[in-house]
Amino acid sequence: MRSLVTGGAGFIGSHLVEHLLDVGDSVVVLDDLSTGSMNNLAKVADHPGLEVVVGTILDPVIVRNVVLDVDRVFHLAAAVGVKLVVEQPLSCLRTNIHGTENILMVCHETGTTLLLASTSEIYGKNESDGLTEESDRILGSALKSRWSYAAAKGIDEAFARAYWEEYGLQVSIVRLFNTVGPRQKGRYGMVVPNLVGQAIRGESLTVFGDGRQTRCFSAVEDIVPALVAIAESPEAYGQAYNLGGSTEISILDLAETVLEVVDSASDVVLVPYANAYGPGYEDMRRRVPDNSKAKALIGFVPRTGIEAIVRGVAGSMRESVAGEDWQMAQARPARNGLPGTEH
Ligand SMILES: NC(=O)c1ccc[n+]([C@@H]2O[C@H](COP(=O)([O-])OP(=O)(O)OC[C@H]3O[C@@H](n4cnc5c(N)ncnc54)[C@H](O)[C@@H]3O)[C@@H](O)[C@H]2O)c1
Repeated sequence: MRSLVTGGAGFIGSHLVEHLLDVGDSVVVLDDLSTGSMNNLAKVADHPGLEVVVGTILDPVIVRNVVLDVDRVFHLAAAVGVKLVVEQPLSCLRTNIHGTENILMVCHETGTTLLLASTSEIYGKNESDGLTEESDRILGSALKSRWSYAAAKGIDEAFARAYWEEYGLQVSIVRLFNTVGPRQKGRYGMVVPNLVGQAIRGESLTVFGDGRQTRCFSAVEDIVPALVAIAESPEAYGQAYNLGGSTEISILDLAETVLEVVDSASDVVLVPYANAYGPGYEDMRRRVPDNSKAKALIGFVPRTGIEAIVRGVAGSMRESVAGEDWQMAQARPARNGLPGTEH
C-alpha cells in the first residue's frame, strides 16, 4: 500500500508516517513546513519507502500529482490551533477550507480513499458530559477569529460528507481531542509542551484563567493506530469518529502533574486569557469525548495515562534542548512573551 500523508512533517503526521513505514507501507509526505519540520522525520529520513514533497495543499497541481501516485490519503495538513488562527486568520481559513477542498476534489477525481483529520474544536462551547458525534456545535460570534478554526473544520466535514453522499467518495472523518506526545510544539498554544518546557527551564508554569477548565488528553501513540484502523474500515465512509483521552483533568492539576514528573520546584501562575489573546477571548470550561463509536468500530480504547504522556513529552523535549527545534522555539515566542493556551 502506498499512502500520502499531508502534514506528514507535523507532530501527529510524523508519528503516522513512522507507523505506516513500520507496517510496510511506502509513504509520500506533502508538507509546506509552515509549522512542521524535517526534524520531525529524522528517524525515518533514510527509509527507502519515504518520499517527501515540500509544497502546499493550496496548489491543485501539486495535490493532483501526489494523489495520483498513491492508494490512499491521510489528510492532516492544516493551520492548527486557535492561537495561529487568531494571529493569521486569513491564511488559516484558506489553508483549512480551500486546501481541504483541493484534496477532496482530487480524491474524487482519482477514486482515492481519504481519511480527514478534524477536531474536537468543532463542538465549540458545548461542555456536556461525553460529546458524541451527533452533539450540537455551540460556536461564538462569527466575527471572532478565535472560532474560525472550528468553523473551517466544520465546513471541511460538511464538504467531506457531501462528497460521500453525492459522489460516493470513500472518506472518513476523525475528530481529535487534545492529542499530545513527543515532538509537539508549544509555540502554537499547546498546553502540555508549554508547561513541560517551562518546568524544564525552571520558569513559572503559566495557566490561563482560573485553571479549573478541564480537558481529556490522549497520547499520539494511541491515536495513530486508530487513524489507520478507521481508514481501513469501509463502514467508516461518510462517518465521523471521536478519538480522545478517557481521563478528564483540570489544567491546574495538569500543571501539578508536570511539576511532579519533571521534578521541578517552579511555581504556578494564573494568567488572564486577555494577556495572551486580547480582550473578549472565549474558552470552554470542559471538553469530554464519548469514544464509544470508535470503540464499536475498531475497539479504540485510549490506554496511556496523563503521567506517561507528560513523561514522554519531557523526555523528547530534553533530547531536543540542544537541537534546532529548541532554538526555533526560543526565537519565536508567543505574543506578549507568553505561551499560548490549550485548544
Ligand atoms: N494536536 C492536536 O491536539 C489536534 C487536535 C485536533 C485536531 N488536530 C488535527 O490533526 C492534524 C495534525 O495536527 P498537528 O497537531 O500534528 O499539527 P502540526 O501543526 O504539527 O501539523 C500540521 C502540518 O501541516 C502542515 N501544513 C500546514 N499548512 C499546510 C499547507 N498549506 N500545505 C501543506 N502542509 C501544510 C504543517 O507544516 C504541519 O507539518 C490537523 O489537521 C489538526 O487540525 C490536532
